[in-house]
Amino acid sequence: EKLHISIKNKILPTKYLYDDKGSKLFEDICNTEEYYLTRTEKSIVQKYAKDIMAASSAEEFFELGSGSSKKTKILILEALKYRKKLTYTSFDISKKALEMSKKELKTISKNLSIQLVKGDFINDLKNIDVGKDRRLYLFLGSTLGNFNNQMAISFLYNLSKIMKKKDFLLIGIDKIKDHDVIKSAYNDKAGYTEKFNKNILDVINNKYNLDFEKNNFTHSITFNKSNNQIEMYLKSKTKQVINFPNKEKILIEQGDKLLTEISRKFNDKTIKKIFSNSSLKIRKTYFDDNKYFSLYLLNSK
Ligand code: SAH
Ligand code: AVI
Repeated sequence: EKLHISIKNKILPTKYLYDDKGSKLFEDICNTEEYYLTRTEKSIVQKYAKDIMAASSAEEFFELGSGSSKKTKILILEALKYRKKLTYTSFDISKKALEMSKKELKTISKNLSIQLVKGDFINDLKNIDVGKDRRLYLFLGSTLGNFNNQMAISFLYNLSKIMKKKDFLLIGIDKIKDHDVIKSAYNDKAGYTEKFNKNILDVINNKYNLDFEKNNFTHSITFNKSNNQIEMYLKSKTKQVINFPNKEKILIEQGDKLLTEISRKFNDKTIKKIFSNSSLKIRKTYFDDNKYFSLYLLNSK
């Protein structure tokens, strides 16, 4: 299996953060005081919903990694002011996220048709139906920040290749700001981020029949200043052995850190470079007064 190689390299695949419980915990994180990302992005969406819909004139929505779709709901309501019919597709790896999204949107209007697609946006994007109508792709929440530079470019480039000329992409990007503000967003006092991080071990134990013990790890956050990224780790409290079903054992030393996620923060220059290397062209940029967060509306070049 590939997992033992990544454990040996002290990396756990980020997508395993999102099972039912992980998706619930992510929602809890979004509601904490420390996690400025969600409310800031929401305020930008609220302020510019009319402009975003006028600029994109979307006939349908396709959201990647939708989570609960709460912010997208604002745009859907705006679109339905002018359109008789709208199709919204949520594409997410988590069954729970799809359920939350459905719950959030199902009562909006009989003119909204909701489609739920369970899939991996890294591997399964090439198989999606690109439709005939003018589509607005959404990639919110700064999920792009969870990809390293090479992954971000190949993901966006692949997306640009499936976008029709008239399609748009709305993408949410977290910006560089005071490092303590950023760090506390990943270290909330109520401990939701800690639970979210440790939950990955339950997911991996179930999936690969392993015996990681959550209590043997602590939640650890660093801000890597040279890469401008949060790094989320599980730090081993003790020397421990992880037993694989094939009898293979992996030794983890006290103090070893397993990387569970990176969350990159961008400035205008670093994000623009990614877009231009991905064959995407910026049409509009929106941000909040503090310049904590940005939304970019893009076309395929
Ligand atoms: N866009 C939402 C949710 C962000 S959390 C917001 O802004 O609040 C990231 C979302 O991406 C989660 O719902 C998670 O289930 C989904 N996700 C993570 N990795 C994925 C992958 N490889 N393929 C598809 N969805 C993924
Ligand atoms: C989904 N993603 C953009 C979140 C982030 O901020 O990187 C996931 C998260 N990790 C810890 N808290 C929230």
